[in-house]
Amino acid sequence: MTSIIEKRVSLHKRLADHEEQNSALKSQIAQLQALANIGTITNMIAHEMNNLLTPVGNYATLAMKNPDDQVLVEKALIRTAQSCERATKIMESMLAMADGKRQEKKNAHLIVLIEEIFMCLCRDFAKDGITVKIQIPEELTVWTVPVQIQQVLMNLILNARDAMLPRGGILQIKASESNNSVKVEVTDTGCGIESNDLENIFETFFTTKRDGSSPSRDSGSGLGLAFCKKIVDAHGGCISVESKPAEGSTFTVTLPKPQ
Ligand SMILES: Nc1ncnc2c1ncn2[C@@H]1O[C@H](COP(=O)(O)OP(=O)(O)OP(=O)(O)O)[C@@H](O)[C@H]1O
Ligand SMILES: [Mg+2]
Repeated sequence: MTSIIEKRVSLHKRLADHEEQNSALKSQIAQLQALANIGTITNMIAHEMNNLLTPVGNYATLAMKNPDDQVLVEKALIRTAQSCERATKIMESMLAMADGKRQEKKNAHLIVLIEEIFMCLCRDFAKDGITVKIQIPEELTVWTVPVQIQQVLMNLILNARDAMLPRGGILQIKASESNNSVKVEVTDTGCGIESNDLENIFETFFTTKRDGSSPSRDSGSGLGLAFCKKIVDAHGGCISVESKPAEGSTFTVTLPKPQ
């Protein structure tokens, strides 16, 4: 018959074995997490480069077709240079993220960040029947890694434009501040979001822009809002949406002020 002491020794051994397995599993999880992060960041870079390169490519094609139009050619070159600069900043920021480096936040003027986004978007919204209304106090600043919050706003603006094509509509960007936060609202008068879809739109790879259903491009990747949420969460802020099918949507980003 096994003595109590032998039973205790065997129990201790099993416990030690389990602890060893546990710590091996934990380190495997950490490695997988690091790989998953790299996957996410690679997707993010590809997605954001696509956002930037599509308008640059369109502009360049237009300039090539009209080589004698000096104004157009010059504009295309300026926009290309601006987009390249932004692309470099996005790459740097993503690579720092992959490396686990802390990125410097600073107080950035929101209106300036938004003006830069519209320059990179190149295509004039008015040509698509979209009126842009920006109501942001000149002095309003946000505490942010500037290139990252520009990514968020660029994705919201592109989604708003998609939602309003081909009919056109109004894109409104408003911002206000309270004692401890800054709130930015991006509103469109587009197709709106079905209530069934609302709970899924921030999920990675959720998209309704499939098989040519979007008037602006063949398909969406369903990554834009997932990245927006990731970035806003990393800023300690929050992102929410209110939408009515056939009427439009408002995305609200709230960012904390430094205490
Ligand atoms: N302003 C909006 N109006 C209507 N639907 C929207 C709006 N913004 C997002 N959506 C819905 O949420 C889905 C997910 O948006 P998300 O930006 O993540 O991906 P996507 O635009 O489909 O593709 P991409 O990765 O290229 O941005 C969209 O496919 C669309 O159905
Ligand atoms: Mg999108």
